[in-house]
Amino acid sequence: MTDSGKKLRVLGIETSCDETGVAVYDTVSGLLAHRLYSQIQVHARYGGVVPELASRDHVRKTLPLIRQTLAAASLSLADLDGIAYTAGPGLIGALMVGAGIGRALAWSLGVPAVAVHHMEGHLLAPMLEDPRPDFPFVALLVSGGHTMLVQVDAVGRYRILGESVDDAVGEAFDKTAKLLGLPYPGGPELARLAEKGRAGVYRFPRPMTNRPGLDFSYSGLKTFALNTLQEAGADVDEQTRADIALAFQEAAVDSLVIKCRRALQQTGIRSLVVAGGVSANRCLRAALGQLARQQRIALYFPRLEFCTDNGAMIAYAGSLRLAQGQSEQAVIDARPRWQLDSLAPVG
Ligand code: KG4
Ligand code: ZN
Repeated sequence: MTDSGKKLRVLGIETSCDETGVAVYDTVSGLLAHRLYSQIQVHARYGGVVPELASRDHVRKTLPLIRQTLAAASLSLADLDGIAYTAGPGLIGALMVGAGIGRALAWSLGVPAVAVHHMEGHLLAPMLEDPRPDFPFVALLVSGGHTMLVQVDAVGRYRILGESVDDAVGEAFDKTAKLLGLPYPGGPELARLAEKGRAGVYRFPRPMTNRPGLDFSYSGLKTFALNTLQEAGADVDEQTRADIALAFQEAAVDSLVIKCRRALQQTGIRSLVVAGGVSANRCLRAALGQLARQQRIALYFPRLEFCTDNGAMIAYAGSLRLAQGQSEQAVIDARPRWQLDSLAPVG
């Protein structure tokens, strides 16, 4: 479970979108504690994430969550050897909160801070479980903002094999869920509705699968769902909506599985890691499980709670970099108010 070498206790802070996640990872003892606060309640009435509200809520929740996480691990701030915070990609205001708090804490404690790439966090989340995947592996990263296949030769050695040319698969789940009248966040809601769907009533296309390559496209599936819904008429009943949800999910999952099979064949790698919010999808887990059995591939997922955004994956990814002596000296320079006449003259 743990990493060899120097003992480091690292606080991880995740605030890139609509979840505040905090964790402490110990390079000898493993994950010590983690806490998550989801902003679903804040954004639900708007049908999606409102960036400014997300930033404000991170401001309210991050410090209390850090206190709770440290208490759960029976640690104090002085016990920390480093801070890892998500520096991007994500909503800039939301990121600034975690980065600002992380940086400030590191300075005040006199410990190093490291800026973590959110997708590296997702990619390494399965390494928090036993057994861990060995390098090299192929990673399928499926979240609300990204859909990509990555060849992972080592931590930080990433070759992007393919990615979405338009919407991310999670985004397509969310947009289609909205069309079906489901509340935010739509992905898990659509998956739930699809359980009541009848197989074979609708068939959606498998985008980008009948041409070579490992790129994905998901905006067409959302449009197909819209057209199917419109053709079904004004008063679409619950059963029809469930049938459409199932057909959408089957097509989305099928295209992911087809590309995974292709990536494994192309690279000759026998190990597949799946991470990001959509890796919580049961239908995807089952379909990839079948692929793994057929092809004798080792398959790894994060535990369910670490599929979606969390602080544990950031603490872990950061600890690996901090253990190698990597840290950030960057100064956070954002100025919401700035006097024009305070500028230094040029020349
Ligand atoms: O990784 P994540 O928490 O945040 C990003 O980095 O984007 O992923 C969130 C995405 C959302 O689009 C959400 O709808 C989707 O993951 N998601 C699911 C499921 N659980 C979360 N999509 C389909 N089925 C699920 N069970
Ligand atoms: Zn994420």
